[in-house]
Amino acid sequence: MMMKITGCQVNHFNNPLGFRIDGTPVFHWIVSDAAGTRATLSRIVISREDTASGERTEVADTGWTELDSLAASVNVALAPRTRYIWTVAVRTDTGEEGISAENFFETGKMEEGWVGRWIAAADEDEGLHPVFTKKIIPDREKEIAAARLYISAAGLYEAHWNGEKIGDEYLTPYCTNYNAWMEVISHDVTREVRQTAAAGATGELSICLGNGWYNGRFGFNPDQRPHFEGGKKLIAELHITYTDGSENVIGTDESWLATRSAITFSNIYDGEHRDDTLPKTPAQKAVLTGAPKGELLDRLSLPVVVKHVLPAKKLIHTPAGETVIDLGQNQAGIWKLHLHVPAGTKAHVQVGEVLQEGNFYHDNLRSAKAEYWYTSDGRETDLIPHFTFYGYRYVKIEGIPDLRPEDFTALVLYSDMDQTGSLTFGNEKINRLLLNAEWGKRSNFIDVPTDCPQRDERMGWTGDAEVFAPTALYQSDAYAFYTKYLFDMATEQKENGGMVPDVVPDFGVHSCACAWGDATTIIPWTMYQYTGDKSILEKHYESMKAWVDYVEKRDEDQWGWRDQFHYGDWLALDGGGAIDEVLGGTDEGFIAEVYKLYSAQIVHDTAALLGRENDAAGYQELADNTLTQIRREYFSPTGRSCIDTQTAYLLALRFGLSVDPDRMKERLIWKLKKNGSKLQTGFIGTPILAEGVTSIGHPEMAYDLLFNEEFPGWLYEVNLGATTIWERWNSMEADGKVSSTGMNSFNHYAYGSIAAWLYERAAGLRRDPSVPGFRKVEFAPLPNWKLKSAAATYQSAAGVWKTHWKILDEHTLEIALSVPFGCSAVVVLPGFDRATLAAGEANEAEAPNPLFDSIGADGRCHVGPGEYSITYRTCEPLRRIYSTRMPLNELLASQEAKAILMKMAPQILQVPKQYENMSLRDLAAVMNSTGTAEEEQFDRIDDALKNII
Ligand code: BGC
Repeated sequence: MMMKITGCQVNHFNNPLGFRIDGTPVFHWIVSDAAGTRATLSRIVISREDTASGERTEVADTGWTELDSLAASVNVALAPRTRYIWTVAVRTDTGEEGISAENFFETGKMEEGWVGRWIAAADEDEGLHPVFTKKIIPDREKEIAAARLYISAAGLYEAHWNGEKIGDEYLTPYCTNYNAWMEVISHDVTREVRQTAAAGATGELSICLGNGWYNGRFGFNPDQRPHFEGGKKLIAELHITYTDGSENVIGTDESWLATRSAITFSNIYDGEHRDDTLPKTPAQKAVLTGAPKGELLDRLSLPVVVKHVLPAKKLIHTPAGETVIDLGQNQAGIWKLHLHVPAGTKAHVQVGEVLQEGNFYHDNLRSAKAEYWYTSDGRETDLIPHFTFYGYRYVKIEGIPDLRPEDFTALVLYSDMDQTGSLTFGNEKINRLLLNAEWGKRSNFIDVPTDCPQRDERMGWTGDAEVFAPTALYQSDAYAFYTKYLFDMATEQKENGGMVPDVVPDFGVHSCACAWGDATTIIPWTMYQYTGDKSILEKHYESMKAWVDYVEKRDEDQWGWRDQFHYGDWLALDGGGAIDEVLGGTDEGFIAEVYKLYSAQIVHDTAALLGRENDAAGYQELADNTLTQIRREYFSPTGRSCIDTQTAYLLALRFGLSVDPDRMKERLIWKLKKNGSKLQTGFIGTPILAEGVTSIGHPEMAYDLLFNEEFPGWLYEVNLGATTIWERWNSMEADGKVSSTGMNSFNHYAYGSIAAWLYERAAGLRRDPSVPGFRKVEFAPLPNWKLKSAAATYQSAAGVWKTHWKILDEHTLEIALSVPFGCSAVVVLPGFDRATLAAGEANEAEAPNPLFDSIGADGRCHVGPGEYSITYRTCEPLRRIYSTRMPLNELLASQEAKAILMKMAPQILQVPKQYENMSLRDLAAVMNSTGTAEEEQFDRIDDALKNII
């Protein structure tokens, strides 16, 4: 076994080039394949690399010391446009040593001034998508050491070197509040420039601009105007460094030429138009222009790249006579359409998420045209949109008579994050649900965590981002992605006195609401919990505080905060039932106060962690006072809740609101059962629903909710063919009809937050909250007969965890766990009974098993790094045996049981709702109707019920 050190990151970036490394860089690595179990000492060495000579000078050496592999900050003074090489060496408790491969990080322009100036095209025609060009002749007498392009734009840019796209990113320089800051993107163009120099040729740098988030209509502006608006502008700087130490710096200025591209229209919502028949116009000199308001800062955005290429699944000729491509998967991004059509042919592409009566449909995109218009000049071409993206599964293509499915390919775009989690169950529907949640994330992680990728929103809705964050952190390495979002959030808060606008960047939305604005405390806290890196808390601390202070100030005089507009339990079903009843049945003011308590508590915990004692005491007091207020206002002195909804009980339990938690537990389960074990929750209740019932000892209820196939529930969507998560529980009616057009997306990730529970509880991979960063896990899986088996792999910040369980038969369970280096786990074996094992009923044929050896009488054991497995006989059957002795509502929650009852005793289904918590036999006894014939009938029903698997 050779120790390996991998996963090396700086500020959660993998070998970053030109990314912003503020202040002290934070290093992270993962040790595996070690003989030892934990690191005793580690050592980071950082050297600066001279760009011209490649010579290295050591700039930091921590020496052998105790470093935290989750987040080790090293003080080092950084220079702009400079590459730093670093390694980390680790010594373990057995004395073995290992060293990582060399990693790098290269700074961007940092604070240095610009040689390049802001330029624009002289022609200010709105439709003009200019291409700026500059001829560049590298010095042929010298050897090129490196070439870098630093670039930003008001609008979007796409850069080419001699016709070849530079880099693989799309939608650069991304989505920010352009009035506050704009990202500078660095591209390594050494290969391109060297090739040109070697060929003795002239290079041409050409950069095309589109509208994007800056110039295009975006957000809720009533007049459909762009939010920023200032014309398309470019700034760029090419640095060619030669091995003799000399440098050419070519910046944008009036010597650049501007021509018209074939693109005549673009924006994020409406798509793009391209006309290849436009006559060439003479190049004009670019003009110098005023800088946009925002500050130029090195990038924080992860690259948005093509992450999947999906072929067309089928080509459909719809009843309405349309030609429609079906990709088989709802997703977001751009596409490639291969065309070879006569000059003058006009093609029109539109996208949609679902079909209606077999025909193309896109009314739920509201005002977003989401289209592409193309006029051909007769040349064969691959059309690829440049300055827009689409959320879609179906593509209607007009104007191309002989279209073949292979002519169309979807290019799925999203921010480039490593996949960290994979989870599979022995149940195809649940696997599809997990995949839908995964696609929900993919489609809504295009630089900003968006609500949806298709209609005229696609904005960074804070509430959606917050409820999905735990799932996203299981699915992928999202720390850097959220760091950029939180920087955007802090930027908005600074401009708004601590207020967190509902969407970030705000695009003119200047309202805020509870649970949505609390994203500013909850997301960084969640990031810390999942990764053990508290640097985000240090960076974001002032914004977290500012938000709680803002809320407190609003609340101060007469509950001002509680009484303002809030989204409440958004889209919950207990608000009255009508499709436009979006607020749910849980008092919004109550939710507002509960989130105030939650955020105050987080700020207290953060302050305590960061050693800010005074703050900690102040926010604890605020939390305590808020709890007192909530109890006074919303609970009776004996602990009864005056709000009688599923979500209210979930919140009461989660935040310890009632003095009588047992009553809250009872009420929650009773309410759910009364509702046929079906949820009524919205954005607030749903993400904590399965965990809520599990944590009070009712995992079977979590499974009933999960497996419910009728409306409302996760599998209802899966059964209707969903390939992503829907915005509403009934986005589509059971007959396939779209329920409404106003607010109805088929790709909203919020309810995909169930995936975190599937990792945590169903698969059993639950981090110990007292040890952030997955250094310690409580592995307490919840085997379920319908799930059959679970296999999870999680590349956590601390290392790779693997969990597995499989039901071999009604009483036999196979369990396995792999604990990474430096980590430990508490294992709770379900249905374990030492007596059963001692009686020799366990599978002792297996090799001696450390897990088997160390199990306490309670079925719990503590294990360190290593691989463990055990197969044992459980004391309880692993299958739920249905019978007429269980409460009727539990029976009715099972579709199979319901079907049996409908067939064998349809009169039972007439039982008034209030009796449904009684068993059939008890009910019969109460009604004094138990006779032998009836008993026999019950026995026959039991015989049928017990066969349900
Ligand atoms: C968005 C949501 C968002 C909500 C605010 C909607 O239009 O799509 O997901 O959170 O508004 O309640």
